Amino acid sequence: MAILLTGGAGYIGSHTCVELLNAGYKLIVVDDLSNSKLNSMVRIKEITGKDFKFYKTDILDREALESIFVENSIEAVIHLAGLKSVGESVQMPLHYYHNNITGTLVLCELMKKYNVKKMVFSSSATVYGVPEYVPISEDFPLRAMNPYGRTKLMIEEMLRDLYHSDHDWSISLLRYFNPIGAHESGRIGEDPKSIPNNLMPYITQTAVGKLEELYVFGNDYPTVDGTGVRDYIHVVDLAKGHLKALEKILTSKGVEAYNLGTGKGYSVLQIVAAFEKTTGTKIPYKIVKRRQGDVASCYADPTKARKELGWLAEKGIEDMCRDAWGWQEKNPSGYEDVLQDRNTSFVF
Ligand code: NAD
Ligand code: UFG
Repeated sequence: MAILLTGGAGYIGSHTCVELLNAGYKLIVVDDLSNSKLNSMVRIKEITGKDFKFYKTDILDREALESIFVENSIEAVIHLAGLKSVGESVQMPLHYYHNNITGTLVLCELMKKYNVKKMVFSSSATVYGVPEYVPISEDFPLRAMNPYGRTKLMIEEMLRDLYHSDHDWSISLLRYFNPIGAHESGRIGEDPKSIPNNLMPYITQTAVGKLEELYVFGNDYPTVDGTGVRDYIHVVDLAKGHLKALEKILTSKGVEAYNLGTGKGYSVLQIVAAFEKTTGTKIPYKIVKRRQGDVASCYADPTKARKELGWLAEKGIEDMCRDAWGWQEKNPSGYEDVLQDRNTSFVF
């Protein structure tokens, strides 16, 4: 029996592949490479030395996805495939709703048809909108603020309805906070297509000289130094959270949401200082006006994941900075994919 991982070539997916393979799971990866490179798969094979299957497939392609269910004996699905840029979702809402929601719908219909009723879903802390206070626990009111966030919220609701219609389903909704960092080997990491929207890749690209300076979005928030506070979590800790959630859905039924965060908040300037100290680099920055839609402070209460999944983030901010830099320094142009054009599937 195998685990099907959608979106497995992406940033979080590639780190999840490594953890799954190292834990001995049989793995099938599905990704259309719309926001990732095939080279990530080559590097996963290199890191783990383990075999796995890769299908270059769009989850919206029902026929192609169905053939994967026919060809393989699938026990559970970890569903990460999706589009994730908040700004782009405002510009292209239909594209986001179609890809994220219809994609999940097609996947769930096939799971139902082939009696695979176990899913770990990648949701986001964005479903909490503007929290009334912090830390945020899973029972906070849910209110997404943009089309991307609404796709996550709608999918969560769809999956809850699915469970309520058939109690054989077992579903974990993982609400990620801010994943940063990379595998300690420096062979896999975050590889944004264009100028990064997120803080850490912007910092690493500034450090490596690709970008001139960091723009800090606002220093007049009610926080420790006026800059925005977030719960940054090492991507390897996050990947390990998927394994714990998988163990849970393999052995019990129900639908539950879990915050995957550290429970600690860091401001933008604290991250800049930690990065400079850990890596010995200098990050020039300029304070500019607030970015529309940003909240002042967002960090998790991760107690539920600790109690029910036995999961706790172990890595600290220095590990996150060191590993983010290790990846960027060794791969200044990302994966530079030579295999990108091969429109096919592989057994790695
Ligand atoms: P990513 O873009 O690196 O990975 C997503 C992967 O899904 C990509 O490899 C992309 O090619 C693939 N994909 C997209 N649409 C697809 C489709 N229709 N069929 C097949 N593959 C498809 O992003 P990531 O940061 O690794 O995020 C993974 C998941 O976690 C996403 O669902 C994202 O919304 C969610 N998430 C990410 C963050 C974050 O800060 N990175 C925070 C919260 C939630
Ligand atoms: N920031 C800057 N300059 C930048 C980029 C970010 O000052 O160039 C600041 C932001 O204002 C914010 C903090 O750094 O205070 C973090 O911003 P990110 O863009 O890295 O992360 P967000 O918290 O805005 O969003 C991330 C994901 C979303 C997800 C959300 C909640 O990008 O997809 O976390 O989990 F929904």
